[in-house]
Amino acid sequence: MLLNRNMFVILITGGTGFLGSHTSLVLLEKGYYLYIVDSLDNSSIKTLKRIKEINHNYKNQFKFFRGDLRNKELLRRIFINAKDSGKIISGVIHFAGLKAVSDSIKNPLKYWSNNFLGTLNLLEVMSEFNCKKIIFSSSATVYGPSNFSLLNEDSNINPINPYGKTKQAIENLLTDVFNSEPEKWGVINLRYFNPIGAHESGLIGEDPLGKPNNIFPILNQVASKKVDKIEIFGDNWGTPDGTCIRDYIHVMDLAEGHVAALEFLLSNGSQCININIGTGKGTSVLELVNIFSKVNNVEIKYNFTDRREGDFAVVIADNTRAKELLNWSPRRSLEAMCKDGWKWHRKIKH
Ligand code: UD1
Repeated sequence: MLLNRNMFVILITGGTGFLGSHTSLVLLEKGYYLYIVDSLDNSSIKTLKRIKEINHNYKNQFKFFRGDLRNKELLRRIFINAKDSGKIISGVIHFAGLKAVSDSIKNPLKYWSNNFLGTLNLLEVMSEFNCKKIIFSSSATVYGPSNFSLLNEDSNINPINPYGKTKQAIENLLTDVFNSEPEKWGVINLRYFNPIGAHESGLIGEDPLGKPNNIFPILNQVASKKVDKIEIFGDNWGTPDGTCIRDYIHVMDLAEGHVAALEFLLSNGSQCININIGTGKGTSVLELVNIFSKVNNVEIKYNFTDRREGDFAVVIADNTRAKELLNWSPRRSLEAMCKDGWKWHRKIKH
């Protein structure tokens, strides 16, 4: 079915964050009208300015609301604002949430409150306004250890930290909500692997506040000499070079995956599905360090330290379902991820 995208208004929660901003951009390019809500706790309002720099016409294509999903009145205000301007929010892409694993171990209440209560409120307000299509930002973190095989959506679910447990709980909540009215709800849980890189313009990218935990922002900091070296967590993992293997995916491929999922939901109606968003290809930490250094012509100093608690040797997606159901495939190379991510870092940070 061909969708008339100009007819659809979509609410993006967490729309100024790393994944939310890139997905918003792709939706704007396709002609959707967006309501964007974000607390700006871990992102910047400047992102919206930069989206408008990429294309001036986008300024008339979205409205921004600052706030937290635990504020139900704010959510209601958004739906009422849409109604009053003759728009109906057809679906929600729900990115908003906290995502630092170590922080979640120290502050589980903060994670359950933000991630779980925020989602509960969102679903209640969506229900009130009869908006029953949702794409949820889940994570490969919901899976247990993989024994070196590709993870498919039926692989064992066994998150080991509070962050991952909130993702699992929200998936379960969404399943219950769907089962209560299967003819009305549409739910897709997208389980992301390791999104890195930035938009090709270098104008938007990942901008973590405070000290980053994920590998890619750390590589950027080492390349720009803000940090002396990267500590590689373990060199004895039983992989070919001894370092952990992950499935890195370009954030623009991931953003396009959301549009494919949204359009699938809008045209196919009621369902509740889990879909992996990864490339299906594994890259070791050492390989990533070497490729980053080579394509950007920068030095990346590193040393090996102990394994990080909670890491697995190999995490790679089986992305067959995404390819078959959504007719989506990742297109961008690891070299492009490293180039685009570094371009963003140099342009914005220095
Ligand atoms: C991590 C989280 C995961 C979360 C995801 C996105 C853990 C155990 N997993 O995934 O739950 O969904 O981020 O936020 O925290 N590495 C180093 N040195 C560093 C940083 C990372 O060697 O300084 C290695 C790690 O051991 C890993 C790889 O780089 O093998 C990727 O790490 P990271 O970017 O943190 O992602 P994940 O651990 O895969």
